[in-house]
Amino acid sequence: MNVLVFDTEEQIGIAAGYYLCGQVLQKPDSVLGLATGSTPIKAYNHIIQLYRQGAVDFSRVTTFNLDEYCRLPVDDPNSYRAFMQEHLFRHINITAENIHFLDGNAADLQKECAAYEQRIRDAGGIDIQLLGIGSNGHIAFNEPAASFQRWCHVVQLKDSTIADNSRFFDSVEAVPTSAVTMGIGSIMQAKRILIIALGEKKAKAIRQVISGDVTPACPASILQFHKDVTLMLDKGAASLL
Ligand code: PGA
Repeated sequence: MNVLVFDTEEQIGIAAGYYLCGQVLQKPDSVLGLATGSTPIKAYNHIIQLYRQGAVDFSRVTTFNLDEYCRLPVDDPNSYRAFMQEHLFRHINITAENIHFLDGNAADLQKECAAYEQRIRDAGGIDIQLLGIGSNGHIAFNEPAASFQRWCHVVQLKDSTIADNSRFFDSVEAVPTSAVTMGIGSIMQAKRILIIALGEKKAKAIRQVISGDVTPACPASILQFHKDVTLMLDKGAASLL
């Protein structure tokens, strides 16, 4: 694993932005796997800056996001689609039909999950998957469990996740109770993986990912078996290494 430690969150945003844009410069029709949450925002800001400078063109880029809530209206500002629109897509020249999300409102969610896997395959697979990590080692909505869930699937959200995410909603009751997410196998098939982790609350999970046992009790630990993983950490997230 390529472990990079930075002094500031700002620097990580710049480094991650360059990393993703470098992929697009080398391969203009790249397929990017993207993430939501507070962690990638600075990377997205830097991508927007590079785009505005004319350094990078997204017109042939395809994206697949990791996950989406179930049963939220499509235009709900808390949907992950809305998040991506706000923090990245509306600022760059990506084509609407090249943007892919799991549809949490699909009538048949199992079918939707299988179709999403197929769409990723049809696009040629993901070139770089960007990931945040939960303090419990979750990636996307793959929470600690007794076994690794391989492909896209529906998850019932844990009370702790609902409580964590309620900060974005009017009330805890307004938080969806289920989501659709890429599985561990979907993520592991990406050609390269970039994880960003910020803050001491991620330090334990990061130590486990780098040097702990590979176990579904820390889903991100499976990344030890991937051949091309880069971790960009601030000093807090790297404090237990
Ligand atoms: P965060 O979430 O970026 O808001 O810390 C990361 C995650 O839970 O995957």
